[in-house]
Amino acid sequence: MIGKINRLKKEKNAVILAHNYQRPEIYEVADFLGDSLELAKKAVNTDAKIIVFCGVDFMAESAKILNPEKMVLHPEELSVCPMAAMVTVECVLEAKQKYPKSVIVSYINTTADVKAVSDICCTSANAVKVVNSLKEDEVIFTPDRNLGTYVQTKSKKKIILLDGHCYVHDNISVEDVKKAKELHPDAEVMVHPECRMEVIKEADAVCSTSQMIKYSKESSASEFISVTECGMAIMLKREIPNKKFWAVGGTCLQMKNITLEKVYDCLFNETGKVELDQNIMDNAKKALDAMLKVV
Ligand code: 13P
Ligand code: SF4
Repeated sequence: MIGKINRLKKEKNAVILAHNYQRPEIYEVADFLGDSLELAKKAVNTDAKIIVFCGVDFMAESAKILNPEKMVLHPEELSVCPMAAMVTVECVLEAKQKYPKSVIVSYINTTADVKAVSDICCTSANAVKVVNSLKEDEVIFTPDRNLGTYVQTKSKKKIILLDGHCYVHDNISVEDVKKAKELHPDAEVMVHPECRMEVIKEADAVCSTSQMIKYSKESSASEFISVTECGMAIMLKREIPNKKFWAVGGTCLQMKNITLEKVYDCLFNETGKVELDQNIMDNAKKALDAMLKVV
């Protein structure tokens, strides 16, 4: 199946972008693997005719928004990020009415219509930088309450949080992290900022998924505990085989919904096309472009 997909990609001038949380066999067909920020940047720069996006819906949508003339295929329509579905345009506009001087920062884990009413997007890799780059003192931050709470510890701005969370990261308990530290006292702890603040406090480094790769490559430590979706430890081991990685965190079922068979079928039949309203795409692009100007 890996060979078949790689041949089909060449025939169709397609590129496969895949998130770090994908199944390990998907890594083998990906032209580029990364975190949300890297994948958004890669989507802007590809010359391929077709982008097959192995990740959750908002990632494939962002690729389409940034590259409206390209065909973007998403292999599984049920691969939908539940956090992105937790905030609606109505919630955001209601908050804006309440805080008219504020600027709306939406995490890239949002639907296209929420991005379209936002001033700027951010990812886990650049949220602090994006918020601190703004001239306004008041920020509506949506939908990840945990990420917003973390950003607040790094910013003097007033951050108004709209409610939302990632079920995978929010379920990670501080007890689990402390237990892993006891078992592996020499390991450094890398925590994704979608975790709760009490978990983040246990971190040696707060990292997006790809920042975990960079951090563990550059650190002098030889063991690491990665506190995020458990598949990340497989990616870390693949990238840095001479170091040890321990995983604390559950599985993102939506990310794991994509299989090699679904990737092959969608590219062969050109199904799963991401199609969005032009007006929404134009406005959402402004928020994504604003972010890409900052980082
Ligand atoms: P990253 O941008 O850090 O890869 O995070 C994406 C995500 O969905 C984490 O749950
Ligand atoms: Fe969404 Fe959480 Fe899955 Fe990331 S890990 S895609 S935030 S549900």
